[in-house]
Amino acid sequence: MSLVLLRGRLLSFRRAPLAIDDTQSYLYIEDGGLLLEDGKIAAIGEYADIRKTAPEDVEEKDHRPHLIVPGLIDMHLHFPQMQVIGSYAANLLEWLNTYTFPEECRFVETAHAQRIATHFYDELLRHGTTTAAAYCSVHKASADAFFAEAMKRNMLMVGGKVMMDRNAPQGLLDTPETSYDETRQVIADWHGKGRNHVAITPRFAITSTPKQMEAAQALAQEFPDLFIQTHLSENLDEIKYTCELYPEATDYTDIYVRYGLMGKKTLLGHAIHLSDREADVLSETGAVAVHCPTSNLFIGSGLFPMKKLRRREKPVRIAVATDIGGGSSYSMLRTMDEAYKIQQLLGERLNPLESWYLMTRGNAEALSMVDRIGTLEAGTDADITVLNASSTSAMALKMEVVKNLTEELFLMLTMGDDRTVVETYVAGQPMKSVLA
Ligand code: GUN
Ligand code: ZN
Repeated sequence: MSLVLLRGRLLSFRRAPLAIDDTQSYLYIEDGGLLLEDGKIAAIGEYADIRKTAPEDVEEKDHRPHLIVPGLIDMHLHFPQMQVIGSYAANLLEWLNTYTFPEECRFVETAHAQRIATHFYDELLRHGTTTAAAYCSVHKASADAFFAEAMKRNMLMVGGKVMMDRNAPQGLLDTPETSYDETRQVIADWHGKGRNHVAITPRFAITSTPKQMEAAQALAQEFPDLFIQTHLSENLDEIKYTCELYPEATDYTDIYVRYGLMGKKTLLGHAIHLSDREADVLSETGAVAVHCPTSNLFIGSGLFPMKKLRRREKPVRIAVATDIGGGSSYSMLRTMDEAYKIQQLLGERLNPLESWYLMTRGNAEALSMVDRIGTLEAGTDADITVLNASSTSAMALKMEVVKNLTEELFLMLTMGDDRTVVETYVAGQPMKSVLA
């Protein structure tokens, strides 16, 4: 049995905050204790109380004065795009064709996929991210490398072999049949092994023929518990081209509806330029729009109207993500800083409590996994991130005048990055401090 007692300031959300002064939306314990037992959180409370009930000889880790939060969750990124980050392109389609597709072709080499998978998890842990929903490449071996490495580290990950059978280089194409067979094989090999979750992953409508969309539909019907991840309405030229490829569909969203791909387990990357009709469809089906702020700004795709979509009469479920390698940082702190700026430009307010909720509990709710991750509640998995708001000299100087928790959270969003992350625990094990 492994037993550890963490001491520090604890923050965990109970629900989405309604306003910047909504102190009921979260639990905050100034001198908190978190008892971790066999990879789970066994108890949370005042340190003095937890100390009394814990065995005398329990190992203690004193993280004071740092803040202990649930492990951060990244809801959309591409594991084969670590070397695509920072590619200079005019727009999405140029970026895909010039840099991204050629790079993903390299994942035909198993050794390359394995090497990048190692770096991938190192970076996630360095940035305090304990769960992510990722795209692999079209090659089954890339999914094997992705899930094998997740298992080694005991991380809860969502991932899928990308399905794509047109409009890309030959080295990156499968067929409707092979994409179906290989996705089934990935499910058989990896789904439910360790903490792995396989997602059915048709890249987007442009790179799938109607026949392949039917294969994705068949998989969705056979495996209704699996996540489905794809891209939606990221860029205006992309939308135009997509609708030309599927002229029978009312709009981009309708393509995914027609192939039975819209539901509570559907994760739609970007979804920036939705019509009211499309937003209604997302709301009615329970599909999640995944906001990728650094990517949307970097590629120049548009300003995602997050607040507007959340306060509709028919609200859209929202998650947040880095979208590496269209995104420019692995850090969910940097991600939410850009999310804040996008709302500023749209004349909306995104308060720091909402941002913290979104990258922890909010993303767990989007995965329908809040009983396991995204909070510090007893009985959930011990995936935990420890943060230091004074991690740089500039932040420490600002901290001299920070008056309360909300201001501290906002400072970490504004200036924080991987240096802010002191430790990352996965299923109770410290992972960041042991990285090479
Ligand atoms: N649309 C289809 N594929 C991709 C991708 O890899 N990145 C982004 N940002 N958009 C996409
Ligand atoms: Zn993407």
